[in-house]
Amino acid sequence: MTITTPDTPTAQPLLDWYDRHHRDLPWRVTPGMAASGVKPDPYRVWLSEVMLQQTTVQAVKPYFAKFLERWPEVTDLAAAESDDVMAAWAGLGYYARARNLKKCAEAVAKEHGGVFPDTEAGLKSLPGIGDYTAAAVAAIAFNRQAAVMDGNVERVISRLYAIETPLPAAKPVMKDKVALMTPASRPGDFAQAMMDLGATICTPKRPACSLCPFRGSCQALKLSDPELFPVKAAKKEKPVRQGAAFVAVTGEGEILLRRRAESGLLGGMTEVPTTAWTARIDGETSVAAAPFDAAWQACGTIIHVFTHFELRLSIWRTAIAAKPRVGEDATNDEWWEPVTNLEAQALPTVMKKAIAAAIPLAFKTSKA
Ligand code: ADE
Repeated sequence: MTITTPDTPTAQPLLDWYDRHHRDLPWRVTPGMAASGVKPDPYRVWLSEVMLQQTTVQAVKPYFAKFLERWPEVTDLAAAESDDVMAAWAGLGYYARARNLKKCAEAVAKEHGGVFPDTEAGLKSLPGIGDYTAAAVAAIAFNRQAAVMDGNVERVISRLYAIETPLPAAKPVMKDKVALMTPASRPGDFAQAMMDLGATICTPKRPACSLCPFRGSCQALKLSDPELFPVKAAKKEKPVRQGAAFVAVTGEGEILLRRRAESGLLGGMTEVPTTAWTARIDGETSVAAAPFDAAWQACGTIIHVFTHFELRLSIWRTAIAAKPRVGEDATNDEWWEPVTNLEAQALPTVMKKAIAAAIPLAFKTSKA
């Protein structure tokens, strides 16, 4: 039974708004499609939800299309080469997620006969599926009454109830409010409607309150200025790390690449030779750390912001006539790759930025 208090906003005005104003997204079964009997495909819902964590809808669209074209079913993804999945994911960030994506597909294929479990608890037992993804897939793909909360939903709820507790401490209270509002019928549409409302009306800056289906019940609007919510705890400055990266290109147009260690940050991804990334003031940023002697030219510094630190990488470039032997410890994890084939490599964004600083036309689409 759902318990509501007299001032609990109800879902219906939002669902009515969603019926008229939902976004058409490639992974979505819109209300009109649902009325014609189209059912959501759990694989598409799961894939989109994993991709959409920390990334915008706009950025996800081409990746979603590429994945579906190459791996139309979860069993196809389960059978894919890990390196191909990593390369297709490159640029989306949070690479542990791509590894877990593959593991999850394998678990669904091998342990569940290629069929996703249809409950929140069943979904959560799969590798890489946490609270958010389990709730989102349960609600959207299986019509379960699960409370789905992402950044957009947090903003809507914080305003609707004028929640003064700062984030992230306010999350449990917010989740309770979402649970209270989530209807038994159309819980998936409710979740997606909250997301759409947060993305298009209840925006971080200059929300369009006059168009909002909750304008009659929004506490932040009644009290003061909705932009003041959500309240956020003061941010700590990110620590800075530094290092150097080396872009070596041969006369035949081949670039020296290597594979990062399997564990740790960007594990298993591809990179150009780089020093350790250290917070020490005397960390290596100079040509002295180059993988071999050559005429190295400085190409400036790139900055890349990771979740826990900001990286400043000095970029060095050299053009060489012949391939040198790269150190005594050269392994199979180091190779020369045609620059024309860079798009197919599992290069994380930071490495695309590093290479683009040395070879401006290396990437046709400048996603870097
Ligand atoms: N962000 C995360 N999941 C989403 C969804 N299903 N629709 C729109 N935006 C989202």
